[in-house]
Amino acid sequence: MKVTIQNLQQWKQEKRPIVSLTAWDYAIAQLLDQAGIDLILVGDSLGMVALGYSSTLPVTLEDMIHHTKAVCRGVNRALVVVDLPFLTYQTNITQAIQSAGKIIKETNAGAVKLEGGYPAMIDTVSRLTEIGIPVMAHVGLTPQSVRILGYKQQGKTIEAQEKILNQAIALEQAGAFAIVLEHITKNLAIQITKTLSIPTIGIGAGNHCDGQVLVTADLLGLSEKLPPFAKPYANLRQNILDSVTHFSEDVKSRQFPES
Ligand code: KIV
Repeated sequence: MKVTIQNLQQWKQEKRPIVSLTAWDYAIAQLLDQAGIDLILVGDSLGMVALGYSSTLPVTLEDMIHHTKAVCRGVNRALVVVDLPFLTYQTNITQAIQSAGKIIKETNAGAVKLEGGYPAMIDTVSRLTEIGIPVMAHVGLTPQSVRILGYKQQGKTIEAQEKILNQAIALEQAGAFAIVLEHITKNLAIQITKTLSIPTIGIGAGNHCDGQVLVTADLLGLSEKLPPFAKPYANLRQNILDSVTHFSEDVKSRQFPES
């Protein structure tokens, strides 16, 4: 059975943690889906992971659609959520509808995600939801605002905590079906998780969120640099390097092929 946004909301009620990871191509998506990951995020972190950019800012809508089509081909069960990239939704609501609509029409994704909770975003979430496009929100450290926020933990002062909490409440009221809490203090994440009836998906936000997400390249040990909250469960960078070096040596010494 395909995971639905209703399942996520039910799992919050049942206190059954939601498991989420990012994917950027068919092979990774297929493995995540086989492992039973609930929510596969085609995050714009693919700009760094798959395209070699130093931030998410250069990623285009076309990049996201291209990668989402590949991811969807590998997924049977998980809910696929796609990031709206920088400057494809912030200009005005019409732009947001056109960008989100293009993703929904051209791929098999179930929902979009957008960053920020300032007033204009609240109206955008409300309008997208109204026309039938499910939206996952994202507050705290929002990487598309890296030029202002850097990659630092957010919500450290009382004022900043109130602002993020109020943004989360407004996004829920606008119709967001879930919300990513990135790199905020554990106490703030607990407060938001208790206050909202939609699921909170944490990344660097402590272990009391309704679910957790990581960038899969960080989990697999593929990334050159890890954020402080990521946990590598494998060392694929070294494994690949060793395998490729071994192959190269075998070819040069005529040990591959064996005859
Ligand atoms: O782009 C991404 O991978 C994300 C996650 C870090 C939540 O937005």
